Amino acid sequence: MTTKTAQANPNIAFIKYWGNRDNNLRLPVNGSISMNLDGLFTRTTVTFNSSKQDSLTINDHAVLGKGLERVSSILDLVREMANINERAEVSSTNNFPAGAGIASSAAAFAALALASSHAAGLTLSEAQLSRLARRGSGSASRSIPSGFVEWKMGTGDDDSVAESIAPPEHWDLTDCIAIVNASHKKTGSTEGHAIAGTSPLQNARVEDTPRRLDICRNTILKKDFEAFANIIEHDSDVMHSVMMTSNPPLMYWQAATVGIFHAVREWRANGLPVGYTVDAGANVHVLCLTEKAKEVEKRLRELPGVENVLVAKVGGAAQVV
Ligand code: DP6
Repeated sequence: MTTKTAQANPNIAFIKYWGNRDNNLRLPVNGSISMNLDGLFTRTTVTFNSSKQDSLTINDHAVLGKGLERVSSILDLVREMANINERAEVSSTNNFPAGAGIASSAAAFAALALASSHAAGLTLSEAQLSRLARRGSGSASRSIPSGFVEWKMGTGDDDSVAESIAPPEHWDLTDCIAIVNASHKKTGSTEGHAIAGTSPLQNARVEDTPRRLDICRNTILKKDFEAFANIIEHDSDVMHSVMMTSNPPLMYWQAATVGIFHAVREWRANGLPVGYTVDAGANVHVLCLTEKAKEVEKRLRELPGVENVLVAKVGGAAQVV
């Protein structure tokens, strides 16, 4: 019986992953860039033992059905690599509030890939871990390496992996996550990826992605905040245009979401270094230089519809604890 625990941060995408060329392998139609969110993490313990079935608890609640199946499919890959048959007990906790609009699948599958491979006696390279995490959730591939990360679309399963483009200390950015009230249940990313191709705008978005990736990577490497803010807002708006025009249409924004866009652009025009981006939800990630984070948090809290603000600096790599 071997037990191992690992933890990983969620991440926020600056150039978004939206749509797969292979849904089963989670091979994306385009590359993406993100930053890990420090201080927020999922911690997962995996024990291989003599039980008859895999089991899963998340924040002490037993999970069955689709959630468990998705975890078992990663455990199957690990069992195959390690040549073992034991079933596993998986228990996972998040230190960020559930329903806070932070995509928990990225941190969850990154922590699972690391903990389960270690518990099975494997020592995988960062690229192998990233590939394994990707099979559970595409964005999880980006929660394995440290800091600012790029996931290359690759040519196939082997090379569609993420790697760090700069360590956390490279650029002192903070993500102020404005939580707005999203009353209706959102469509999950997995369903969203599957219908991305029904939007007439998706091909144009995908074809243009190398350009946006180059701009975004360069603005990070050069620490050019103004250009960085422009490209992340542009990329987020492009992805949401695809979402809104797919069949069925996905409209993740609430009135408060759009209110924050206007405020952020006005603040930037008046000299405050801020830029927004939104994943598959209504909450708005407002990126700023850390020296302005207190001011940005205060202003966000005053906006209509903002229920809470979470604050995260640039996070490190997934790690065994
Ligand atoms: C909008 O990685 O959550 O956040 O692979 O089906 O789990 P699955 O999807 P997921 O999709 C993330 C979508 C996004 C953009 C991004 O993080 O790049």
